[in-house]
Amino acid sequence: MTDRIRVDPEADIDEIDDHVFGHFAEHLGRCIYGGIWDGDEDSTIEAGIRDDTLSLLQGLDMPNLRWPGGCFADDYHWEDGVGPREERPRRRNVHWVQGRDEEWEESNQFGTDEFLRLCELLDTTPYLAANVGSGDPGEAMDWVEYCNYDGDTELVDRRAENGHEEPYDVPYWGVGNENWGCGGDYEPADYAREFRRYATYLNAFGGNMNPGEKLDLIACGHIHGDWNQEFMKNMAEAGGQNAMDHLSVHRYYNAGDSTDFSDDEYYKLIARSLALADDIDQTADTINTYAPAADIGVVVDEWGVWHPEAKNDNGLEQSQTVRDAVSAAGVLDIFANRADVVSMANIAQTVNVLQCIVYTDEEDAWPTQTYQVFDLYEPHMGATAVRSYVDTDEREVENERDVPLVSASASRSDDGVFVTLSNRDLDEREVVLDVGLDDASVAEAEVLFDDHDADAEVTKDNADSFAAADLDVDVEDGEIAFDAPGSSVVGVRVE
Ligand code: AHR
Repeated sequence: MTDRIRVDPEADIDEIDDHVFGHFAEHLGRCIYGGIWDGDEDSTIEAGIRDDTLSLLQGLDMPNLRWPGGCFADDYHWEDGVGPREERPRRRNVHWVQGRDEEWEESNQFGTDEFLRLCELLDTTPYLAANVGSGDPGEAMDWVEYCNYDGDTELVDRRAENGHEEPYDVPYWGVGNENWGCGGDYEPADYAREFRRYATYLNAFGGNMNPGEKLDLIACGHIHGDWNQEFMKNMAEAGGQNAMDHLSVHRYYNAGDSTDFSDDEYYKLIARSLALADDIDQTADTINTYAPAADIGVVVDEWGVWHPEAKNDNGLEQSQTVRDAVSAAGVLDIFANRADVVSMANIAQTVNVLQCIVYTDEEDAWPTQTYQVFDLYEPHMGATAVRSYVDTDEREVENERDVPLVSASASRSDDGVFVTLSNRDLDEREVVLDVGLDDASVAEAEVLFDDHDADAEVTKDNADSFAAADLDVDVEDGEIAFDAPGSSVVGVRVE
C-alpha cells in the first residue's frame, strides 16, 4: 500500500520544548574520562576537554546536558570535584567500578567547573542531579550556592578563585536519581518526604535568596508499579505538589543481539521503544489526578537502547546499528506528538556509553547513527507541534504491541512546516505526504540510512556514510510523494 501522512498545520499540540532533545553524561566507563575529558592535573579546562568530541557535540544544537549521573549522582559529593585538581581526592565509584581496575575509580579531575565550562563551550543548559541517597539538603544547597549565587559568601569566593566570578545560573536540579533503586532504595512516601525536605531549601533560592530566579526541580518517578501514584498522592496530601516542576521517568529496551538480530527482533526492539508513549501518558495522567492545578512537566531523563552486551565490566559499551537510530527517531516523534506534556528528555549517554551519539578511541571521535537522527530533527526545536495522521500497515510482534510501519511528527515555525518520519519496514515504502497546503513547495527533503541495511553497524571508518543525503520527491497538487528506503528516517521541510 501507499502510506499517507496527513498533517493539519493548524491543529496545534504545543510548542516542542528544545529540552526534549537533551543529553546525559555520567561518570561511568569512558563517557567522561577518555570520552570527554583527557586532561591532567596541570591542564587548563579547555585543554582537558577532548577537541574532537567537543567539535562533534558542537555540531549538534544540544539544548541541555544532564550530569553527573545516573546512579553515580547519589554517591557523588560535589566538593570533591572543585579546586586545584592535584588536591582532589580519589573516591570509589560505587555503582560502576565493580570487577574493574583502578582506572574506573573516581579521580575527581572532572568536576563542577569542568562540566559547566563544557556546557558553556557547547552553549548548552546544564542540568545537575543532586545527591539524595547518600547526601543531604545542605550539601545540595551548597552546590546551588556555589553555582548560582551572586552574593558575598565563602562559596561564592571559592567559585571565583576556581576561575568563575560570575554565577553559572544552572536552572535544572534533579532531586536524586532512581531513588526507588540505586538512589537510596526509598519507598515512594519516604522519597516524597525527602523531596519536600530538599525542596524547602532549593526553592528558597528563587524565593528569599535570589528573587525571581526559581530553580526547576525534577522529582524522580518510575515506570513500574505504583511509585508515581504513591509519590504524587503523598505530595498532594502534604500540599507539596507545587514544590516540583517536573516528574521524571526512565526507560531502556533491547531485543536480541546488538548487531546480529533476526527480523522479528528488529521489530521487537521498535515495539519495546513505543512503550515510552504509555510511560508518558500514564505519568501525565498521574500528575493530572493528584496535582491538576500544578504546572508539572513529564521528563524522560534517561532513555534509549541498552543491549545485553553493555555490562558493568565493559563500562556499558555496545555496538550500534541503523535499527537503534530508527527506534530513536520514533521516540522523538512520540515526544513531539506529546509536546503538551513532555518538558525534557535526555538520551543515555552522550559518549561511548549505551546509545551514545559519539564514540571515541585514543586518536579519534566519530558520530553514531543516533547523532544523525538528532541532527535531522533539529528544526522541530522550539517549533509548534501540530497533529499528523498516519495511515500505514502494522507489523504484528509476538508478545508486544503491533508496530505501525511508518512513524511521523510535524511542527510549524516561521520556516514552514517540518515533518519527520521513519520507515520502520525493512523494505522500501511509497509515501504520500499532505501538509494541508494547496501550493506546498518542498524547501528541503533529506533521508538518513538510504545506503544501509538495518543491521549496518557504525565504525570509525564508515561513520560519515550515515549522514543525511538529499531525497527525491515529487510534488503534485500539494501532495509530496517519495519512496522511503527500508529502515530510514526522512525530514521534509515544506513552505
Ligand atoms: O545510564 C545507566 C544507568 O541506568 C544510570 O546510572 C541509572 O540511572 C540507570 O539505571
